[in-house]
Amino acid sequence: MVASASQPRSKHNVRQAYYDKISKFHMAPLWEVLKDLVTPEPKTECQPAIWRFNDVKRLMLEAGDVISAEEAERRVLVLENPGETGKARITNSLFAGIQLILPGEIAEVHRHVASAIRFVLEGEGAYTAVEGEKTMMSHGDFIITANWAPHDHGNPGKEPVMWLDVLDMPTVNHFQASFANHFDEKMQNVNHENGDSFERYAMGVLPDGAPATSLRTPVINYPYSKMKPILERLKKTGDVDKRHGARVRYANPVNGGPVLPTMGANLALLPKGFKGEPYRSTDGTIFCVVEGSGTSVIDGKPFEWGVNDVFVVPPWKRYQHSVTDSGDAVLFSISDRPAQEALGIWREGN
Ligand SMILES: [Fe+2]
Repeated sequence: MVASASQPRSKHNVRQAYYDKISKFHMAPLWEVLKDLVTPEPKTECQPAIWRFNDVKRLMLEAGDVISAEEAERRVLVLENPGETGKARITNSLFAGIQLILPGEIAEVHRHVASAIRFVLEGEGAYTAVEGEKTMMSHGDFIITANWAPHDHGNPGKEPVMWLDVLDMPTVNHFQASFANHFDEKMQNVNHENGDSFERYAMGVLPDGAPATSLRTPVINYPYSKMKPILERLKKTGDVDKRHGARVRYANPVNGGPVLPTMGANLALLPKGFKGEPYRSTDGTIFCVVEGSGTSVIDGKPFEWGVNDVFVVPPWKRYQHSVTDSGDAVLFSISDRPAQEALGIWREGN
């Protein structure tokens, strides 16, 4: 009796002594951690969560009283995943935040390795200038700031403007490959008019001599006013996916690939009365409601949403969208799918 009780104890002690010994040589036993490293299914700390625009707007406008854009450098509230508090990210690979720019403010020109997108929520009159093109920002516009592209923002208008920022910062920092710098001038020299890159590259022709391949789209802004009629066309002809609705993928017009190597985005119209079938994929996905209202059941929990709400679905958690009979809804979504596809690890299921 005594022997069998003491034997496991002494085995444990022997092992621990061995682990202590090898740790001095910066080695550790894989067998103690293997089951947490090679999991049979994706494991995540990320939780499903929603940020309702009513709260976001109120708190964001309060930030305007607490700190100026100049003092803050960026007046952004991070949308922190409740499962990863303090890590400044919404999924393991992506950062999301809400940015406010008040009339008369500017955010000075700078660039960074992290790629960014803006999805415009509310307000008119602000602009983002990227690589010499100044693009005006309206509700539902999808604006790209690719890796190392100089950019600045300004609001010469009369109302506060708010947008959703999504950056691949956590991915870049995972690789420890971050660089950033500011320029001497506050604003870029703008030599391309509003809409230039869309008209130049996204109309079925390309400037002669345009490169045959490119990791990132040359289009700076995919305006909602040009995207919505395409969704209506899909709806009209019944091209409605049972899980995703009438959906388009924002594409790089040079090669049909994703807009950025690290982030890919979609825009989907869910017709009124839509009851989506369940879906899941390994890319944790951020949704932003452009129009309408509905409910998404994520990992068994219902999340009701309305215009400008942002919600997140963690990797490999099952979700399904539904919309009431009161009207169509439009959902923007963005994830790290292109990065996972490039690495050959992306999977989807139901
Ligand atoms: Fe930036």
